[in-house]
Amino acid sequence: MKIITFLLIALFSSAVLYGQDSGIEIIQLPSPDLKSNISIEEVLSKRRSVRHYEDSPLSVEDISQLLWAAYGVTKSYESPAFLRGGLKTAPSAGALYPLELYLIAWNNDQLKNGIYKYISEVHSLKLVMSGDKRDELSTAAWDQTWLKDAAGAIVYSAVFSRTSDKYGTRGEERYVCMDLGHSAQNVYLQGVALGIGTCAIGAFNDNKLKELINMPEDETPLYIMPIGKMKTK
Ligand SMILES: Cc1cc2nc3c(=O)[nH]c(=O)nc-3n(C[C@H](O)[C@H](O)[C@H](O)COP(=O)(O)O)c2cc1C
Repeated sequence: MKIITFLLIALFSSAVLYGQDSGIEIIQLPSPDLKSNISIEEVLSKRRSVRHYEDSPLSVEDISQLLWAAYGVTKSYESPAFLRGGLKTAPSAGALYPLELYLIAWNNDQLKNGIYKYISEVHSLKLVMSGDKRDELSTAAWDQTWLKDAAGAIVYSAVFSRTSDKYGTRGEERYVCMDLGHSAQNVYLQGVALGIGTCAIGAFNDNKLKELINMPEDETPLYIMPIGKMKTK
């Protein structure tokens, strides 16, 4: 009887584990490139908000580089837990890192179309849902249809309480969006170095964007940044 009970428990727990594992698709991104042929000064002088893109796919290396520039870990720490992997490319008030990043991919040569969450701790993408979501994204952005010409978009959200629990109103009203600005500027600048254009979009319907991404309740959407190869002429 004891053996049967043990076998049943083992079978049940492995089924639960298998179910969880099989439902999660994780994509390990390639390591970022730390060298470039363009100077920071030239990048700064060329930065512009870009709303016209080449009709060509982005590579997974491009995506990896942009996400790393935005919020990649540059100094690993296992603890404290709020660092979620360590210090990152962008500064953050109290190192509390309130931002979450999503990738919406619809023209990529290796990733399947869908919505992914960026897990900066392990520089990976976790598939949230599959499918071409560019129409819904453009609708959520009050019909800024030009964004559909990009190859994908990075979407930012923030868990405000991570910062406001420590810094109160000042954290909520200032620090979270200051953090956002630092990170988003990195996407702009890294984009110039890669020949990839972006544009910070703050005008969108919060509820529609949250619903599209299936964002957890405690996240507030803050920016959509379409990404696509810059037109060469
Ligand atoms: C907070 C914020 C919100 C923005 N929202 C939008 C937007 O919804 N749509 C858009 O096309 N551009 C948007 N932009 C981009 C600005 O229009 C752009 O930065 C500005 O015209 C200056 O041009 P530049 O970035 O090329 O220097 C936004 C920029 C910021 C900083």
